Order: sequence, then C-alpha cells, then structure tokens
Amino acid sequence: MNRNLQGALLPGALVLALAVVAVGCGERKDAGGGQVASTAATAGSPAAEFAHLNEGPRAAESGHGADAEASAGEVLFKTKGCSACHAFGRRVTGPDLNGVTHRRTEAWIQGQILHPEEMVKNDSTSHALFAVYAVQMPNLHLLPGDARALLTYFEHQDRKSSDKH
Ligand code: HEC
Repeated sequence: MNRNLQGALLPGALVLALAVVAVGCGERKDAGGGQVASTAATAGSPAAEFAHLNEGPRAAESGHGADAEASAGEVLFKTKGCSACHAFGRRVTGPDLNGVTHRRTEAWIQGQILHPEEMVKNDSTSHALFAVYAVQMPNLHLLPGDARALLTYFEHQDRKSSDKH
C-alpha cells in the first residue's frame, strides 16, 4: 500500500521536472565561446556551461574541415540514426538541417549532438526547438570525433548549397 502511494506520487515525469528546475537554478559560470565547446562536449562539465555554446561566430564562418572528414560524417549521419529524424531541405521529426551552420556555432552543434538532453534543458535555442518539435532528440552516445565529423559534413552541405545559388 505504501509502495503504491509512493509510485503514484513520484512518476518519472515529475522527477524529471524537478531535476530541470534544480539545474535551472544553478549558478552561471562564465566561460568564453568556443573554449566551452570542447570541455562541455567531452568532459560532462557543469550544466550551466551548456547555456553559452551559441555565442561566437557561426560554424560556416570558421569551418574548414577536410573532405574525408565530411564523408565520414555523412556515413555517421546515415548509420547512427540521424537520418531517421533529419534531412536537408525538409523537416522530418527534427529540424531541417539545411543552413544549420549559418544558424549556430560549431560548439553549439557539437553540444547538441553529444548532449542533446543537456542542451534542451540549459540552452535557450535548443529549448525553443524542443518547444516547436515536441520531441527530445536522443543521446546516441557518439564520440567527440564523431560529432566533429558530423559538423564538418554539415559545413560541407551548406557550402555546396550556397555554391548552387
Ligand atoms: C528521434 C529523432 C532524432 C534523432 C534520431 C536525431 N535528432 Fe537531431 N534533433 C531532433 C529534434 C526534435 C531536435 C530539436 C531539439 C529537440 O527537441 O531535442 C533536433 C535538433 C538537432 C540539431 C539542431 C538543429 C537546428 O536547427 O539548430 C542538430 C544539428 C541535430 N539535431 C543533429 C542530429 C544528429 C547529427 C543526429 C544523429 C547523431 C540526430 N540529430 C539525431 C530529433 C532527432
């Protein structure tokens, strides 16, 4: 009887909501733009660091990855499940990734790929996307090198599509 009551009082959603509130109250740490990316993306740093990843130049302005890396990224995109929810030029379950490197920084894109749940909780841009798409992008447990390759793939896609215009 007692156990049933507990189960009723603490459904998973409530626990999650409380966790979000707790994280939201965390003290803000200042850390400079791109620097945070590698730390946050690799080391699982404090949640507040995810809030500033979209500050700085857009990815398309700084990206010069090699063709081989872009091809590796394309393979990951198709084999890791990204293409189930994303395409270039149309919305699927998730946002249209056309132009994503003009909209976001490199740090933000890598943060979204490696820690989508932290990004939705702590970053206002990611949270706004979540509000529109009403789906939480899953954490596919990729390595930082994978995120880098995917980012390079997106940069190459955006370069190709701007060449066409
Ligand atoms: C189950 C569907 C799903 C899968 C699988 C998925 N995503 Fe997402 N993705 C989303 C949704 C939904 C969002 C918007 C943020 C949110 O609601 O979590 C998003 C957001 C993004 C964004 C930001 C888009 C923008 O406009 O800023 C990028 C980049 C991205 N995903 C890349 C990836 C990559 C790379 C993979 C594979 C490793 C992947 N996604 C797998 C659903 C998905």
